[in-house]
Amino acid sequence: MKYRNLLLAGAVAFAATSAHSHEVRLCLFPHSPTRSVDTAVAKAAFGRLALSYREVDLGRALGDGALAQPRLTKLLASTCDVFAGIPTAAGARPGAGLVASQPYVAADFVEFALPGTAPGGAVAVAYRTPAQLIAAEAKVPDFDVENTPDAVIRAVAERRVPHGIAWAPSLLDYQRAHPGVHFAQQPTHSRFSTWQLRFVGATRERALVGRLSHAIDALRRSGELQRLTATAAPQGAADHGVATATPTRTAFHPQPGWGFVRVAATPTAQFAAAQVGPGRKVYAAECARCHGAKLEGRTAPALVGAGFAPSSNSTMTIGGIFQYVTTNMPADKPGQLKPAQYVDVMAFLLHANGYAPSGKPLTAQAAPNDASQFDSFVK
Ligand code: HEC
Repeated sequence: MKYRNLLLAGAVAFAATSAHSHEVRLCLFPHSPTRSVDTAVAKAAFGRLALSYREVDLGRALGDGALAQPRLTKLLASTCDVFAGIPTAAGARPGAGLVASQPYVAADFVEFALPGTAPGGAVAVAYRTPAQLIAAEAKVPDFDVENTPDAVIRAVAERRVPHGIAWAPSLLDYQRAHPGVHFAQQPTHSRFSTWQLRFVGATRERALVGRLSHAIDALRRSGELQRLTATAAPQGAADHGVATATPTRTAFHPQPGWGFVRVAATPTAQFAAAQVGPGRKVYAAECARCHGAKLEGRTAPALVGAGFAPSSNSTMTIGGIFQYVTTNMPADKPGQLKPAQYVDVMAFLLHANGYAPSGKPLTAQAAPNDASQFDSFVK
């Protein structure tokens, strides 16, 4: 039996490396405002995996910068193995034929104005972008539709419109190109507000994208990811984790229809599928009476969905939740379950929030130290 497992493990390892005996072809948006973050994270992640890669020059292939999902799929079939810097909606469903890594940085849509602007008045948004949907969902009474995100930012900077909604990286980029302009920013609250940047590949690159996810986790645990993605940012931007170490030279703002692609993450966390069943039993016996049979919340908060772990600004880590639960839960007899029961119920919570098992069992030693961010991938 042992011998068979060894053979299988060997075969898998071989397949994983042989798939990329050649250099990985990495695509990046040539003019994206997050380009320097994407480049830095790719370099660190591939470095960590000891994989060689080369950046594919998409200058011509992308033309004006528009990239809708069919185009992305086509590029991933012909020109690149993996694409960095794809903005993805939090909790979105899988785009057919695509796989996405863990997110490496949040890049949300924010409301912005020049400092001291009174509340109220029109809100500028770009046509056919998430900003327009956010304004519509918020029932903004008076909105001013511009043709491009660039025009939105200019309209506010030039005081033609008091407020705007724009992608945080675009604002940061504008501020870099216009020293002296500093917008006051605040989050928007809509299901179109929250975006994250990920690596995206075609399904044939599932193994590679999975390895990039692990590299992102490792970079996050070591603090390097935070260093790469959040440095001296203009006011407001740091809150969104969007900042670049090296300023971009030209201000780029996505054109209408530019690639806001809805792809699902394939988040994994350390636990084994076999821990989920026992964890579900612990949950039913020890947690459901307060948190609800479906984790929906009863006398205690919900343990699933954005209300529990909003994926853009969740400050919780898996280890932090584990430590909280082992010391405070069940609230009527805190700390009184067996270590194995706490571990299994944690595996169940991860599963219930959309994580796939990495296959390596979660243990009482590993769980409190797991510094990966806990995001719910369930609506
Ligand atoms: C007797 C009721 C009760 C039971 C049983 C119970 N909890 Fe709780 N739980 C609560 C309450 C109340 C809170 C909110 C505490 C607070 O906000 O200070 C809470 C908070 C939590 C939180 C933090 C939620 C958040 O949004 O920050 C987690 C995680 C949690 N419980 C997990 C569990 C698990 C796992 C179990 C079973 C092992 C469990 N609880 C059993 C009452 C309970």
